[in-house]
Amino acid sequence: MELGPDTVKKALQNVKYPGFTRDIVSFGIVKDIQIDGSKVNVSLVLPKPDDKLQSEIDDSVRTAILETPGVSDVNIQISVRPPKAPPGQEPGKAQKSAKLPDIKYYIAVASGKGGVGKSTVAINVAVAMAKMRDKVALMDADIWGPSIPIMLGIKDKPKATEDNKIIPLNKFGLKLMSIGFLVSEEETIIWRGPMVHGAIKQFIEDVIWDDTDHLVIDLPPGTGDAQLSLVQTVPLSGGVIVTTPQEVALIDVKRGVQMFRKLNVPILGIVENMSYLEQRGGGDVIDIFGRGGGRRMAEQFGVPFLGEIPIDPQIRIGGDGGVPIVESHPESTAAIAFTKIAVHVLDVVEKT
Ligand SMILES: Nc1ncnc2c1ncn2[C@@H]1O[C@H](COP(=O)(O)OP(=O)(O)OP(=O)(O)O)[C@@H](O)[C@H]1O
Ligand SMILES: [Mg+2]
Repeated sequence: MELGPDTVKKALQNVKYPGFTRDIVSFGIVKDIQIDGSKVNVSLVLPKPDDKLQSEIDDSVRTAILETPGVSDVNIQISVRPPKAPPGQEPGKAQKSAKLPDIKYYIAVASGKGGVGKSTVAINVAVAMAKMRDKVALMDADIWGPSIPIMLGIKDKPKATEDNKIIPLNKFGLKLMSIGFLVSEEETIIWRGPMVHGAIKQFIEDVIWDDTDHLVIDLPPGTGDAQLSLVQTVPLSGGVIVTTPQEVALIDVKRGVQMFRKLNVPILGIVENMSYLEQRGGGDVIDIFGRGGGRRMAEQFGVPFLGEIPIDPQIRIGGDGGVPIVESHPESTAAIAFTKIAVHVLDVVEKT
């Protein structure tokens, strides 16, 4: 095959942007490719000045191009895109928020601590909402443990358009996007508040959320700076707090309530997950973790109590297998409870 810009572009499509699963071409950093006999000239534009990033990209681009048949030499020019004006100096606030997609209702699902079933609740409530509304989307913003693609059985990666916008995936009537598609775990493990803020904002802006009315957001567990800055990124219609009944989990509910209140985000309510265990074939339910703590907390803070979700092996099986219980066993007590929460959330946010 004759050496041309397309051959080189193809080679560069195999070069990943360091720390990301996307390639440098789809990232938009390849500005120009010129061929001069067997010599290739490429110019790249990095989003920020970063010596380490620059040398890593230089190395991998050089290797990829020199491995392309017909190439004898390569010349790489790397420049840095001029920084955008800091937020306070932008021409006007309206312009800034104009970049956010046209979504009517942003609904965040938070928890004081990890492992309480926050993603399970976000998924099942979103799928239940999608049965009642046409334009529901789910965004996995759990930077440190994105799990929604697995829990919805998604194996594909989203595609990007020519102008670098990402097309969300579809499943169970939902539009879906996960930060895990774009950023590797190694990269995010060291992220702190400001980086998280920037990444999430960009993540929301770079995805084509056309035709979305309700966006359910699975936040990272906890109520620290990162979660706070995330919650501030979008105009939330409301927040749901998920807890389990044990005292250790309930202590953290208070922080969740404080987080939303601090930012004037309406609290849609508290969900108590893993409340109790139903016995097969009826009989008394078994109270494993101290059922009722979530309701108590809700009363104490004067926020709605949205319901109890029983421990149901089918929830875990559905999570691992990629089919949420609302979809696989809509008649189960848990699915009915999730649906009730979805009805309540829709009811409250749509009134505001
Ligand atoms: N009510 C339930 N009954 C049985 N299993 C459940 C229930 N809720 C959640 N699980 C299971 O518990 C595990 C943890 O749930 P999930 O991943 O939703 O928690 P999380 O709060 O999002 O955790 P993380 O903090 O890691 O993001 C999963 O395997 C899930 O399937
Ligand atoms: Mg989770």
